[in-house]
Amino acid sequence: MGRMLRFAIVLLLADSTMVNFRVLARGMSSIARAFEANAVVPDVVGKAPEAAVTVKFTSGVEVKSGNVLTPTQVKDVPSVSWDAQPDVFYTLAMTDPDAPSRKEPTFREWHHWLVGNIAGNDVASGDTLSAYIGSGPPPGTGLHRYVYLVYRQPSKLQFDEERLPNNSGDKRGGFSISKFAKKYNLGDPIAGNFYQAEYDDYVPILYKQLGG
Ligand SMILES: *[C@@H]1O[C@H](CO)[C@@H](O)[C@H](O)[C@H]1NC(C)=O
Repeated sequence: MGRMLRFAIVLLLADSTMVNFRVLARGMSSIARAFEANAVVPDVVGKAPEAAVTVKFTSGVEVKSGNVLTPTQVKDVPSVSWDAQPDVFYTLAMTDPDAPSRKEPTFREWHHWLVGNIAGNDVASGDTLSAYIGSGPPPGTGLHRYVYLVYRQPSKLQFDEERLPNNSGDKRGGFSISKFAKKYNLGDPIAGNFYQAEYDDYVPILYKQLGG
């Protein structure tokens, strides 16, 4: 093969790969793109959800594709909703893969909230396995990613996890939402969202709540 011809073929291949990539990126939802861009895939889940979970706090802020919020703004249980079918049960999780820091996540994941058997998107109807705890990133550990995920359950489930209260941080670390999902055959998450937060002066108050 002539050198020019080979060169032309390589260019052609490179060009068609670029086009495919662009088509792929365009086909992804903005949530899926944000999960990829911030490495929530693969750090937390193997596949990004296409749909967004709506998470709104009484402080007035809302979770949006990795936006930066403060521990003060997210201290109280948010209202959460997603595109749900009323006759289906769902599991909701909030988890931090960046414990104690994104650089050295030796306690990955530290889970903040876990509720199963939610009828439709009525979170209050579910079984709280782990009560909501707000963000408490240690000082000097930079931004942590706080990831919300919703899974569609195959049916109502019997969860054998120990129920964890909001006044202790015991047994929250070393969690894996992907392993949990595998254990209960939940498949890939159907919806998700995440924000990022770093230390602020609410964190010591939260640690006091946890008995620290
Ligand atoms: C902790 O849980 C208790 C009991 O469910 C609840 O009354 C309280 O409001 C919660 N506190 C926080 C800070 O979430």
